[in-house]
Amino acid sequence: MLLLALFLLLQSHVINAQQSLSFEKVFNFTAKSLPNPPIFSLPPARANVSISVALCASSPSLPQFFISNDTSITQPGQGDVGSGRVFEITLENGFGAWSGLVSDGGFLTISGAVQVPIEIGISEHGPLHEVLDGLPLLGDTTSNQALVFSHPISYSNTTQIEDPTYPNYVLPPANISFPSGAPALPIDVTLFVASTSSPELASLPHTGCAIRAANIKGSQLLATDQTPDNGLWLRDSEGWRWQWLFTGLTPLTNYTTYVVENGTKVSGPVNFVTKSASFSCHLVHSLPYCPSVNYAVPLNAPPSRIPSYTSLNLPSEITDPLLEVLTNFTISLSTQACGRDNYSPLVSCADCQRAYRAWLCSIWFTRCADAAPTSTSTSETAAATAKVTPATQVQLATETPRSPGLPPFPFDYTVLLPCLETCTAADRACPYFLGFKCPLPKFTAQQSYGVGYVDHGEEGTKGKGSTGVTQDRWGNVWCNGV
Ligand SMILES: *[C@@H]1O[C@H](CO)[C@@H](O)[C@H](O)[C@H]1NC(C)=O
Ligand SMILES: *[C@@H]1O[C@H](CO)[C@@H](O)[C@H](O)[C@H]1NC(C)=O
Ligand SMILES: *[C@@H]1O[C@H](CO)[C@@H](O)[C@H](O)[C@H]1NC(C)=O
Ligand SMILES: *[C@@H]1O[C@H](CO)[C@@H](O)[C@H](O)[C@H]1NC(C)=O
Ligand SMILES: *[C@@H]1O[C@H](CO)[C@@H](O)[C@H](O)[C@H]1NC(C)=O
Ligand SMILES: *[C@@H]1O[C@H](CO)[C@@H](O)[C@H](O)[C@H]1NC(C)=O
Ligand SMILES: *[C@@H]1O[C@H](CO)[C@@H](O)[C@H](O)[C@H]1NC(C)=O
Ligand SMILES: *[C@@H]1O[C@H](CO)[C@@H](O)[C@H](O)[C@H]1NC(C)=O
Repeated sequence: MLLLALFLLLQSHVINAQQSLSFEKVFNFTAKSLPNPPIFSLPPARANVSISVALCASSPSLPQFFISNDTSITQPGQGDVGSGRVFEITLENGFGAWSGLVSDGGFLTISGAVQVPIEIGISEHGPLHEVLDGLPLLGDTTSNQALVFSHPISYSNTTQIEDPTYPNYVLPPANISFPSGAPALPIDVTLFVASTSSPELASLPHTGCAIRAANIKGSQLLATDQTPDNGLWLRDSEGWRWQWLFTGLTPLTNYTTYVVENGTKVSGPVNFVTKSASFSCHLVHSLPYCPSVNYAVPLNAPPSRIPSYTSLNLPSEITDPLLEVLTNFTISLSTQACGRDNYSPLVSCADCQRAYRAWLCSIWFTRCADAAPTSTSTSETAAATAKVTPATQVQLATETPRSPGLPPFPFDYTVLLPCLETCTAADRACPYFLGFKCPLPKFTAQQSYGVGYVDHGEEGTKGKGSTGVTQDRWGNVWCNGV
């Protein structure tokens, strides 16, 4: 009897010593600052509770995390898993999360040695740590610069590109200015870049705290203040992304990049490869009237000290005629009974204008690529991807420029052709009377477009192309498309 009382006393002592975790807060611990024994009490909650853990460095051994949602199981462990009241948080790449009911409260324990700093977060509104589904997106690179976008981080205030409706069916002007209405950004997004060959990257956990803490050689932490080059950009209908332009990179190098949101949510990794040192084209981006032009274009270097071309410094000899063509097209399109007498139940005048704009911009702003790599490149990388070669063509300085709107370029360069799908999208979306037609895939299309990458080359077939996409997350780009 005495023994039992003593035991209960001891046990209640243990319980009192437990640190309790509170909601909506990230707790961090090192081996030294962890409570001993490492048991935490969880507060009761009506809603689903999300418990997430992150290792903040690569660890030689992995601790295990157990949760009990039954207050009588105070030290949940491996043996209790399967009882329906004890659950293990499984780790993958240093990150793990569990969601479920903890109606009466419960316990979290750690078993095994904790050799690296860790974070624990509990929340009633979804996990505080997360590996996000959305990936960063490469705009393009030069020999020493890269233009990279975050995953879409906001869908609000995209209304300026929504369709007008009858009776006020006024199409957006050629010179649209939607980015002035950028949403206020309540989140903190940071881009991390490191050379893919950095040894630290190989074992780096995919967690915000590890990425923040890693002292990766050559890594760059980029400021998120709004400048003409860094800021929110509505590149496509997927939503606002953060845009970063950065410089000081090494030619012909594969880089790995992560975007970390709010310090704990990880998007990535994605790769990009810088161009060779002789690459002579320059980046053009941040054009409201051509929102998805964010790539290298055959233009001479921009005015001194400016790293790239934007709507603020692009010569009006290039933009004025482009806007005139687009204005004239919009006028012709508006003679259609837009909004009332739909020429198709599936597409509207606004869809047509959008698709035509995207096509015109991709034709106006020719995209450069690196010259096809010589066969001396490492056979390993060549073998890894069943190599699909990009849609490139050599353009000599002496030839007439491909673009109807760019001045002659004094260097030979390689063109990355627009994907045929940018043309077929306009063909499908626009009324027949405008006479917009694309070349046939089987015949002349390959002279001016990348054919068969996204869609199969066969007439009228959607999808089933050789790559299915215009670019992938590993730094391969096959044709120029949105
Ligand atoms: C851990 O949390 C404390 C308090 O919130 C904070 O000051 C500290 O910087 C954090 N440490 C790390 C390594 O993130
Ligand atoms: C709680 O989370 C689990 C796992 O994510 C999910 O399957 C379940 O539907 C959620 N329940 C409620 C009530 O939200
Ligand atoms: C514990 O979790 C199980 C499985 O999700 C659930 O059925 C049960 O209701 C939970 N118990 C409490 C007290 O929340
Ligand atoms: C487009 O409109 C903006 C104002 O909305 C103006 O500042 C800019 O000069 C215009 N661009 C061109 C090329 O006309
Ligand atoms: C949308 O843009 C307006 C300015 O055009 C701004 O006042 C408002 O805060 C923005 N809305 C959101 C949700 O950010
Ligand atoms: C990041 O934090 C802000 C403010 O704390 C919050 O509004 C936002 O939803 C968070 N973003 C994510 C993805 O959790
Ligand atoms: C646009 O239309 C005007 C008026 O019809 C015409 O003078 C001009 O040449 C057209 N511009 C282009 C680039 O087609
Ligand atoms: C960049 O490196 C990654 C990881 O090694 C690799 O998968 C990818 O194919 C490389 N990208 C290119 C374009 O070589």
